[in-house]
Amino acid sequence: MGTKLTAPAISKRKRSLGADPLVMLTAYDAPSARMADEAGADLILVGDSVAMVVLGHDDTMSVTVDEMAHHTAAVARTRPRAMVVADMPWMSYHVTTADTVTNAAKLVRAGAQALKLEGGAERVPMIEAIVSAQVPVMGHLGLTPQSVLAQGGFRVQGRDSEAALGLVADAKALAHAGCFSIVLEGMPAAVAQMITDAVDVPTIGIGAGGHCDGQVLVFHDVLGLETRMLPRFVRRYATMHSDGVDALARFAADVRSGAFPEPAECYEMNPDEEMALGLYGHRG
Ligand code: KIV
Repeated sequence: MGTKLTAPAISKRKRSLGADPLVMLTAYDAPSARMADEAGADLILVGDSVAMVVLGHDDTMSVTVDEMAHHTAAVARTRPRAMVVADMPWMSYHVTTADTVTNAAKLVRAGAQALKLEGGAERVPMIEAIVSAQVPVMGHLGLTPQSVLAQGGFRVQGRDSEAALGLVADAKALAHAGCFSIVLEGMPAAVAQMITDAVDVPTIGIGAGGHCDGQVLVFHDVLGLETRMLPRFVRRYATMHSDGVDALARFAADVRSGAFPEPAECYEMNPDEEMALGLYGHRG
């Protein structure tokens, strides 16, 4: 158990200043948060990816503030050393700054130490409103899953020079607005490097190459719990879906064959009481 990580500490973690790369993992409930924390993650992101990997939706746009608060609270109750960041879901920061701060407060009261929201310069008023309410904000640029309809699918962004320069300008706007770090998702490694060099706050990449100040992956992807898709940026470190199915199938087979439960897995009754019930010596 080390010192609890905070936004001011994370904001200084630039590799160009000699810092170690930041490690962020998503988690959505107490067991996954405990695992990420025990593994030494610096940040735990209660991502809106919960919509897809836990709640069975096809994209992240269906998840609500109340659902995000529910998952954030489960993660925060484990009191991890890692800093807990919660995603602001789609439409929770798109209407007015007043709505944005009200929604941000729900997630902070659920246990978030910082909030992440997607988008570039157009989000500056919302970021400034949350920061002025004393809540740290993490930006998110590039392939922003809440823009799946507008971007025409989950597509790599910034492939041409104009789009790349637009992302650099957006990153500078987010840093200037007060973001303590920025997630860079789904963009060429060269563009992520330009952004990382252009801003004083750490960048955390996912599908954005090796030059970022840190890396993030989704819990279910790292552990091989999610097997329906394998984007090229995912590295699986375990095969928990197939290991889990195998274990559950062995349980089912043991139940059906009578091998489960064994006597050691059962509770005993006092023999006198069994006698009184006329059961002594009758059990299989
Ligand atoms: O919701 C999420 O999991 C994310 C990561 C992909 C950065 O936003």
